[in-house]
Amino acid sequence: MRLLLVEDDKDQRQLLAELLTDYDLVLAASVAEAQPHLGKVDMVLSDWKLGDGDGLMLLRAAQRLSQGPAFVMMTAYGTISHAVEAMRQGADDYLSKPFSRQELALTLEKVGRAQKLRQDNQRLSQALTDQNKLTEIIGQAPAMQQLQSRLARISDTDATVLIEGESGTGKELAARALHQLSRRAQKPFVAINCGAIPEALAESELFGSDKGAFTGATQAKAGKFEAASSGTLFLDEIGELPLVLQSKLLRVLQEGKVTRLGEHQERSIDVRIIAATNRDLKAEVQAGRFREDLYYRLNVVPLVLPPLRERKDDIPALCRHFLALYARRHGLSQPELSPALVGRLLSHHWPGNVRELANRMERLVLLGEDMPIAAVTPGNGDFTVSLPPGGLDWEAFERHCLDKALALNGGNKRQTARYLNLGYKALLYRLEKHGL
Ligand SMILES: Nc1ncnc2c1ncn2[C@@H]1O[C@H](COP(=O)(O)OP(=O)(O)OP(=O)(O)O)[C@@H](O)[C@H]1O
Ligand SMILES: [Mg+2]
Repeated sequence: MRLLLVEDDKDQRQLLAELLTDYDLVLAASVAEAQPHLGKVDMVLSDWKLGDGDGLMLLRAAQRLSQGPAFVMMTAYGTISHAVEAMRQGADDYLSKPFSRQELALTLEKVGRAQKLRQDNQRLSQALTDQNKLTEIIGQAPAMQQLQSRLARISDTDATVLIEGESGTGKELAARALHQLSRRAQKPFVAINCGAIPEALAESELFGSDKGAFTGATQAKAGKFEAASSGTLFLDEIGELPLVLQSKLLRVLQEGKVTRLGEHQERSIDVRIIAATNRDLKAEVQAGRFREDLYYRLNVVPLVLPPLRERKDDIPALCRHFLALYARRHGLSQPELSPALVGRLLSHHWPGNVRELANRMERLVLLGEDMPIAAVTPGNGDFTVSLPPGGLDWEAFERHCLDKALALNGGNKRQTARYLNLGYKALLYRLEKHGL
């Protein structure tokens, strides 16, 4: 433990120092000398009377620190009122002179133990705060504020929630935050991507299967509904769920029971359902691709995450959030957010929303430089390009556009060529050039 000893009398300071060899000791003779050390020690042992002031001044300064040191005041013989005053101001203990070597040792030991507990506590609650940061939603835009208040309002209910929003807008983050805020927080949060499971396996994935229920089912297996028992089940990309399974899901939601594939026994389930989609589910219903009754069953509480380009005011705060996050994660220093960079980020269209921004900030942390990207705003057969003022890396820009166009067309090259109004060969040549 680091102990700051403040005593203006040279002989007494020396004497005390010799008694305090168990501590990592810092010596000071005055308020001015002691002050800079207050934030760096675990405990302070200070005399009341000091040449340039008194111990009370130090005590007050120590208490202004957010994680200040413990404080023991030494008072002169016959000045018990000073001891009372020190305790009233929040000192942990006092020693009135003259005191024995044993009294000194016992007092410091007791106060030191309490201080250690206090510090451990602070560390634990800091760790908890860090954990909460994982589901922290950044955003002052009105739509984000409304989202936050809705999350708080419905977190303690079991209401089914449908989250809609473009890719990368934070749908999963909102779902996790909702779970964290609910009384189910200590229970599992199970996510399943309905678009990523093959149709043939989807039923057993969701509801479970008995041994031998289908070829390859060598063991009885619980589905995601059972895995999420007492917790939250996040049905991601719900719009991708095949129609057959939509009917089965609806039945499960209505009855609150699942039956494993190949079994007859029904199992009661207690799960909160959160569904998410980046499709316009209402339009899917109109097109006959999504069951209307399931849509209404899921859409009890609608949450809509606006695309990033509609809440650009949030960009600087999001940048700072991600820069700090990735700097910490990679153990690198946090880059500055220059006005030029902010300007560039504000003029970008953000098709990949917050995820795109997060990736870009991670690259900035890792490489120490931002890759300039021009903002392209599509118009009617025409488009506006705003070029970054600081210059443009053309090859990187072309590669970026190709990458985006490919992704937009699901990796299909012929479709991408048509999309870019390029001949198929011309596209292949460019892809090859960029190693895509
Ligand atoms: N408002 C926000 N504040 C802080 N981080 C955010 C915010 N929105 C999104 N993120 C972060 O951006 C990333 C993408 O978010 P998330 O995975 O929730 O998006 P999504 O809507 O589920 O996307 P997809 O439809 O592609 O699955 C995550 O790392 C998430 O933590
Ligand atoms: Mg997602």
